[in-house]
Amino acid sequence: MTFPSELIKILKSSTRIAVLTGAGVSQESGLKTFRDSQDGLWAKYKPTDLASPEAFARDPKLVWDWYAWRREAIKGVRPNQGHYALVEMENKFLEFTLITQNVDGLHRFAGSKNVLELHGNINLVRCSECRTFTEEWDEESELVPQCKKCNGLLRPDVVWFGESLPRAELESAVTASRACQVFFSIGTSGVVQPAASLAHAARNNGSIVVEINAEPTPLTPKVDYFFQGKSGEILPALMKEIKTMDDRPF
Ligand code: OAD
Repeated sequence: MTFPSELIKILKSSTRIAVLTGAGVSQESGLKTFRDSQDGLWAKYKPTDLASPEAFARDPKLVWDWYAWRREAIKGVRPNQGHYALVEMENKFLEFTLITQNVDGLHRFAGSKNVLELHGNINLVRCSECRTFTEEWDEESELVPQCKKCNGLLRPDVVWFGESLPRAELESAVTASRACQVFFSIGTSGVVQPAASLAHAARNNGSIVVEINAEPTPLTPKVDYFFQGKSGEILPALMKEIKTMDDRPF
């Protein structure tokens, strides 16, 4: 795979990079993307119908069980070459911010450090009432496990449709997107706000926008460079090209 030399030149003279990732980055680790149809037991539900406060209010056990199933599915999953290429990227650039919509924790698992988890983390569980975090609950219970402090129902610490994003993370993501010289949008359909607007914030502030995706998205016509394919293949190839052109640190 070859990349335009102009882009490589831009990258080599840049110090501030922001990256937004979505479910596509974890696809090669074996995880389904958000908008893929679901398997087996869950095939009749749309994820978007389960990931909401209304769904939890209507049928908390159904929503709890779906997340318990997803937590279990993630347990044996490992980062892929795309995750590791982003760790390399972080080590190369002076200011690097990795903004992710993924709740699977795979970026940190791979070794990325400056990670903003905009939609939370599925492995963390907290009370839906008093927000106290807990690491112990009865997974076999017939009912949704309850908070030891206030008896509220436990829930995953993820952002559901209609809920606000964590304020500090969102502010840092907007700041990094506005300040970066190159912005990458990787493996995201770019249809969920406010994450989707970050690429536009970057572009409006003069940043070069690069997209890597298996398919074109609504963002594609607006980007400076679009690379169609798997992030687990394109990202390592890009990092290799950057490195072979010049071994000196940036
Ligand atoms: P989506 O499932 O909407 O999109 C996944 C994107 O990854 C698609 O554009 C695919 O073409 C692309 N893709 C698939 N495999 C790929 C690969 N190997 N390499 C590169 N690209 C690949 O997931 P997100 O955009 O992450 O929010 O969804 C955003 C948010 O919507 C999620 O965080 C979730 C969801 O509703 C909440 O739960 C709040």
